[in-house]
Amino acid sequence: MNRETFHVLNHPLITHKLTIMREKETGSKDFRQLLSEIAMLMGYEITRELPLEEVDIETPVATMKAGRIEGKKLAVIPILRAGLGMVDGLLSLVPVAKVGHIGLYRDPETHDPVEYYCKLPADIEERFVIVCDPMLATGGSASGAITMLKKRGCKQIKLLCLVSAPEGVERLQADHPDVEIFTAALDERLDDHAYIIPGLGDAGDRLFGTK
Ligand code: PRP
Ligand code: URA
Repeated sequence: MNRETFHVLNHPLITHKLTIMREKETGSKDFRQLLSEIAMLMGYEITRELPLEEVDIETPVATMKAGRIEGKKLAVIPILRAGLGMVDGLLSLVPVAKVGHIGLYRDPETHDPVEYYCKLPADIEERFVIVCDPMLATGGSASGAITMLKKRGCKQIKLLCLVSAPEGVERLQADHPDVEIFTAALDERLDDHAYIIPGLGDAGDRLFGTK
C-alpha cells in the first residue's frame, strides 16, 4: 500500500460519527444525516490544497489584496446509489460545484461492477473531480468509475470514501496510481461476499432503507 496517495482522515468528529453509523441499531434517518456531516468534514480536509490567487478587492473602508480559489472549478461525482449520501455535505462547502452521476452496481456473483448510468458535466475534463462513495471494498466500482472519467479526459481526480478495505486500496492504487484516496477508516478485510469486515453493512440499503 502506497501511503503517499492514501490518507486516513482520523479527526475525532469523523471517527465519532462513523462509530454511530457502524452500529446496527442506527436507522436510515441518522445514517443519512451522519454520512452527510462526515462528507462535509472530509471535504474540508481534501480541499485544503486548492490553489489560491491574490486579487484586489474593496471592502467598505479600504482596498486590499485577498485570496480567492483560482483556476479549475470542482465537480462532485457520486457513485450511485450510496455516493448520493455524500453530495449534500460536499455542496454545503462548495455550492457552485457541478454534480455528475455514475451508476454502478456490483454483480452479486462475481462482485464486478456493472455500469447502468453516466451523466457528467459538459466541461468535466477541465474540472477538479471528487469521486465519492462510502465503501471501497474490492475497489472495482471506484476503479471503474475513475476509468470512465479518465476516458472523458479528467486529469485531476480524488476519491473520497468512508470505509476502505485493504484489498480495495491496493486495487485502486494498482489501476490508478495517480488518484489520491481519502478515507475515514481502513478496516481489516473483506468477507466471502466481498463485504467489508467490520464495515457497516450495505451502505446503499442503510442509507435508503431498502432492506
Ligand atoms: C456498494 C458501494 C460501492 C460498492 C463498493 O454499492 O456503495 O459502490 O458497493 O464495492 P466494490 O469496491 O467491491 O466495488 P452497491 O454495488 O451495493 O450498489 P448500491 O450503492 O446501489 O447499493
Ligand atoms: N458495499 C457495501 O455497501 N458494503 C460493503 O461492505 C461492501 C460493498
